Amino acid sequence: MARMPPKMSYSQLFEQAVAILSRAGISHAEREALWILEYGLHVTRLDLLTQAQEVVNQDDCKGTLELLARRATREPLQYVLGTQDFCGREFLVEPGVLIPRPETELVVEEALACMQDIPRPLVVDVGTGSGCLAISVAGGKPDATVVVIDQSMAALQLARTNAVRHGVHGHMRWVNGDLLTPLLSRETEGKVTAIVANLPYISQAEWERLPPDVKDFEPRLALYGGPDGFDLYRRLFAQVSHVLTPEGGLVIEIGMGQIPLVEQAVSNVGTLKIANVRQDGQGIPRVVCLQPRTE
Ligand SMILES: C[S@@+](CC[C@H](N)C(=O)[O-])C[C@H]1O[C@@H](n2cnc3c(N)ncnc32)[C@H](O)[C@@H]1O
Repeated sequence: MARMPPKMSYSQLFEQAVAILSRAGISHAEREALWILEYGLHVTRLDLLTQAQEVVNQDDCKGTLELLARRATREPLQYVLGTQDFCGREFLVEPGVLIPRPETELVVEEALACMQDIPRPLVVDVGTGSGCLAISVAGGKPDATVVVIDQSMAALQLARTNAVRHGVHGHMRWVNGDLLTPLLSRETEGKVTAIVANLPYISQAEWERLPPDVKDFEPRLALYGGPDGFDLYRRLFAQVSHVLTPEGGLVIEIGMGQIPLVEQAVSNVGTLKIANVRQDGQGIPRVVCLQPRTE
């Protein structure tokens, strides 16, 4: 039988939580301890403060200590708590699927802007992960049909669960496959209004330098983009002109310093042009909008 922890009050468990996280080198130990206690004990911060001497139920205490032990191994807090906010919605996250990042919200803004006057657009999200892009687009443009593609079945399943949670699954379709390959048929040829993509773009050199909470816990399939990080986008660029309408657009997220790689790949493929580049909050060119070349 699993050993039960000794009986503790909220404040004693909080002190222990801060000690566990501090020993593990977590920088905001007190803040994270509060979040983990709120989640693990099913209480609010106010409960923790106003009922500090309340004795914690032993099952909840055991569960919370397990969450703290996971975080102490540097597992990302979002995996431990199971959620991450993105574009004002809460997304379920789990090990095996990338945690949405705040800078990726720019992709949603750009995609919605480029199709705001187009009725019933057909949108494709390539490499959907948790579904954060597809679901945010579907929520912001309710007459859109959104096809989501991922090579990972775990990602597709999670994206579907998130879509159901946010009530947008009715106008979404799910495809397991490599980039746009499943759509390269007569049926979708020239019919897609917008493609959004946050494909893996970490280069070999960056991979070596990734912090352990990313490298050891988030999936390599979602991060590594080949020697210079741009392998997947080069292959995607060669496919997009087959599926986009002439007025369509491709909105992608890129890594720091990758604009020259975008320019080189655009020039090599010959069928696309760069329409717009957006910088993230740190001034890094992060989101690129591309359009089919018509001339
Ligand atoms: C950087 S993550 C992005 C996830 C999500 N769109 C986001 O912004 O948080 C890249 C995603 O692409 C998927 N992926 C990697 N290679 C792929 C491929 N060749 N075809 C389709 N999806 C791929 C991964 O499984 C992962 O879910």
